[in-house]
Amino acid sequence: MSTIDIGTKVAGVSFRSCLYNASGPRCTTKEELVGLGESHSGAIMMKSCTIEPREGNPKPRYACFEHCSIQSMGLPNLGYEEYLKFVDELAEFNKPVVASIAGLSLNDYVTMTKAFQDSNVSLIELNLSCPNIEGKPQVAYDIEQTEATLSAVAELGSIPLGLKLPPFYDRSFHESMAELVLKYNIRFLSCINSIGNTLIIDADKGTPALRAKHGYGGLSGPCIKPIALANVRIFHELLGDNVSIVGVGGVQTGTDVYEYLLAGASAVQIGTMYEEEGVGCFERIENELGTILKEKGYTRATDAVGALKEQ
Ligand code: DHB
Repeated sequence: MSTIDIGTKVAGVSFRSCLYNASGPRCTTKEELVGLGESHSGAIMMKSCTIEPREGNPKPRYACFEHCSIQSMGLPNLGYEEYLKFVDELAEFNKPVVASIAGLSLNDYVTMTKAFQDSNVSLIELNLSCPNIEGKPQVAYDIEQTEATLSAVAELGSIPLGLKLPPFYDRSFHESMAELVLKYNIRFLSCINSIGNTLIIDADKGTPALRAKHGYGGLSGPCIKPIALANVRIFHELLGDNVSIVGVGGVQTGTDVYEYLLAGASAVQIGTMYEEEGVGCFERIENELGTILKEKGYTRATDAVGALKEQ
């Protein structure tokens, strides 16, 4: 359709398109991952895995509203060994395959990182921010636990490691995290995970929208975009071009992607919109991105990365 190059690189790995799925919706089963391979998604991102397979939390565990979605899935996944079996077949789609690891302990992170370092994945995203497991705080909100985890996994192989981070709201947290990122050679950051422990109430029923965790869940969708954009921009300012930033949160249109590029994201993941629209969202948004980049005078998406101007 357009002559615009929407390709990118994340941690030195080439992507045909800078848009791909966020870990979460529709990336748990082999069929879903193959569907991503066949789609316009720029990569195949896997659901965060744990050592053992998990059924996840009781339903209803996802609800979507006009400006947001909320979920408390509880890490339903097939267990990391099952995902390892799919990697070679998925790699045949000739796009990056990205593993997402969610340990329930430090040892879990080590075991799974070692295993994926020995596989054909292109990138490994360490999920340090799952908000939905009772009794397990989000690792990235504890800087000492984060450092212990990173020091244990940093040197287990040569596949680039990245972090899925929760939102931070104060620059001192971004600065502490950025120091660790440089110290442990973390090559990309995905900002942001859903905003943990939020509550939506169904006034008609007089109950929370979700059942698990007394209704507390992770908030996603358009209403979190301003928080995500700020996290992308601050980390891009702190880390420059040495660390790729991937924007996640509320992407529905090509204009949303353009905003993330301006803020400093090299790529963008799509969560709620992919859950709601299915794989067709990647081609639609890709076309919209081509149109807006052309309007703005760009021929390559990468030229817009970090190009935000002062007011
Ligand atoms: C789940 C939710 C998350 O936000 C996340 O990062 C990982 C897992 C979940 O509940 O399955």
